[in-house]
Amino acid sequence: MDRESSQKEVLNELIMRRRSKRAISEEELTEADLEKLARAAHLAPSCFNNQPWRFVLVEESAKLGRIKESLPGGNYWAKKAPLIVAVVSRQDMDCELSGGRIYYKFDCGLAVENLLLQATEMGLVAHPIAGFNPEVTREVLNIPAEFDLITLVVIGKPGDPEELSDKHREVELGERKRLPLEDVVSKNEFDDLRAG
Ligand SMILES: Cc1cc2nc3c(=O)[nH]c(=O)nc-3n(C[C@H](O)[C@H](O)[C@H](O)COP(=O)(O)O)c2cc1C
Repeated sequence: MDRESSQKEVLNELIMRRRSKRAISEEELTEADLEKLARAAHLAPSCFNNQPWRFVLVEESAKLGRIKESLPGGNYWAKKAPLIVAVVSRQDMDCELSGGRIYYKFDCGLAVENLLLQATEMGLVAHPIAGFNPEVTREVLNIPAEFDLITLVVIGKPGDPEELSDKHREVELGERKRLPLEDVVSKNEFDDLRAG
């Protein structure tokens, strides 16, 4: 795995600072914070400007509580967060083109990255998770069956890494790990040997 340190000077500062941190404070966010995050996400590009993303900002304690209770054990750290954003979409809300080019989740991903970078700029932790209970979350948020619940983003102010498990504290304070660049980038033709 590559380490990130040598690139710190040359890449965009927010990209370098964004991390999927887990230490989160219980402190509330303001309405202005929520609006900034939503506006940033909504400025993402999308196929034909279809804007297929729908965000449910969950801050009401009873609803947050039910979603948190249903999280798998490994996502214990998310239970402190004052805000969870559910990202919801439907395939026919965005381009469906020949050759299996279906873009709604791709475009939602772009919007989520905007949200993550805006949160980073605001000094917040914003951490997407797939580890949640989709049935419970859909029921709590009243998401109709025809919509996909793609991810939750756990958001809050930075907390105390001492409250994390040893394993998570080590990840939290360590550098990011990535595959070597040559495993994921090729020039002029696709290098099938390195797929997966
Ligand atoms: C779709 C998606 C689902 C993820 N699910 C979880 C999760 O359930 N629990 C968790 O701790 N991290 C989760 N992560 C965070 C990744 O583990 C993290 O992005 C990856 O390790 C790279 O670290 P970095 O974001 O700090 O660069 C998820 C990230 C994405 C994009």
